[in-house]
Amino acid sequence: MRHAGSAFTRSESRVLGCWTAGQVPAEAVLHQHRSNTIILLVSPHRHAVSDATSPDLANLTQVDRAVSLLKRNMVKSLPIVDLSLASSPDTKPEFLRQLKDAFFKIGFLYLVNHGVEEKANKLLELSPGLFEVPQEEKDKIDMIKNPHFTGYTRLGVERTQKKLDLREQYDFGSATTTTYKKGDPEWKQIHGPTAYLPDNVYPGYQAAVQEYLDAMSDLSDRMLRLTAESLGLSPDEFDDFKGDMNRLKIIKYPPPPKDGSALQTSQGVGAHKDSSGMFTYIAQDKVGGLQVLDSEGDWIDAVPIENSFVVNIAQGFEALTSGRCQATTHRVVAPSDVTRYSIAYFQGIRLSLTLDEIRKEQDIINEKLPDLPEDLRRRERATASEFLDPRYSCFGEAHLRNRVISHRDVSEVWYPELNKKYVAELEKWTYQI
Ligand SMILES: [Fe+2]
Repeated sequence: MRHAGSAFTRSESRVLGCWTAGQVPAEAVLHQHRSNTIILLVSPHRHAVSDATSPDLANLTQVDRAVSLLKRNMVKSLPIVDLSLASSPDTKPEFLRQLKDAFFKIGFLYLVNHGVEEKANKLLELSPGLFEVPQEEKDKIDMIKNPHFTGYTRLGVERTQKKLDLREQYDFGSATTTTYKKGDPEWKQIHGPTAYLPDNVYPGYQAAVQEYLDAMSDLSDRMLRLTAESLGLSPDEFDDFKGDMNRLKIIKYPPPPKDGSALQTSQGVGAHKDSSGMFTYIAQDKVGGLQVLDSEGDWIDAVPIENSFVVNIAQGFEALTSGRCQATTHRVVAPSDVTRYSIAYFQGIRLSLTLDEIRKEQDIINEKLPDLPEDLRRRERATASEFLDPRYSCFGEAHLRNRVISHRDVSEVWYPELNKKYVAELEKWTYQI
């Protein structure tokens, strides 16, 4: 398994890379001669190896600090998993081992050679323009206009951890047939059609979104089967838990305004676990800002890697695997002076899923995976999750509570009673929203 080279600035020392001796890429040698740059070549035993041609290297204290940062980042960078390895019987066992290792140890990975590169890049290219259409056009498909939590959301409306997030976004859903009728439980309204900007307002994007949703449905279904295999289970072990609506979010993270307003915050999106499905797939531009919290309390930078997805476990899959594959806390730090765009795809889970069904699946998992290596045992305990709360009749009901609190403007219109109830209760709750 490869690990991402570090590329970050945490002090005046800028660490450009991290390579074992003998595997140093050519660009490292070039960087070595730039001023104000430290290049550290790290031996297999992690001793820093360098020459003193850069002026910064004369300052031993600075070098020591950089070595310390580098070592931390070496250990804690996210693993890179190559999906092309799954296509050959010769390399598939190694792929499955890497997949299991990544999902057990950190719950996050980079997926490369996944086959959706072209569609992802096309949608990333179209994303900035999507936010530049006239405000009155965006407002026509505002999320407040439907009960399905799809559509446009203005800057500073959504909340995480009770604080406003600094992001503007569009939410889309895969094609689904609404089954809700008057008198049904309200959670059945969560699923429904997506409204799009007319093609003459922003040509081409609707088709690009729908093609992307279709491609991601195929990819995430394949990955779900491979994940089951990696755990030694039948490939179709989790098929019955899939939802019939997957979601897509195109997000713009602008730099914070410097006007002293409530939006003057570094919270692109606050620390949270993904609550709404099985797995999340994030395509990000080159700006960076996504960070992952490891088990020792350190934030790992999910440094952008071209043509990759950052994939993470959501709380639905965590619950099904009895906490063996754990949803990991993450956040986005708002960029300071540029705008970041990302696309998050959420593989859905069945809204009608009950706690009894989850418990049965957990029993199966516990029986088939009885012995965990020691380093996994401490991750085994699932955290509080809306999937596991007995107060709700099914996941759909619990999930609606989450949506009601996150999008209060929508819930005031479409779910007024639940809005009153859940917002009043909020202070007593401990779940992440
Ligand atoms: Fe997330």
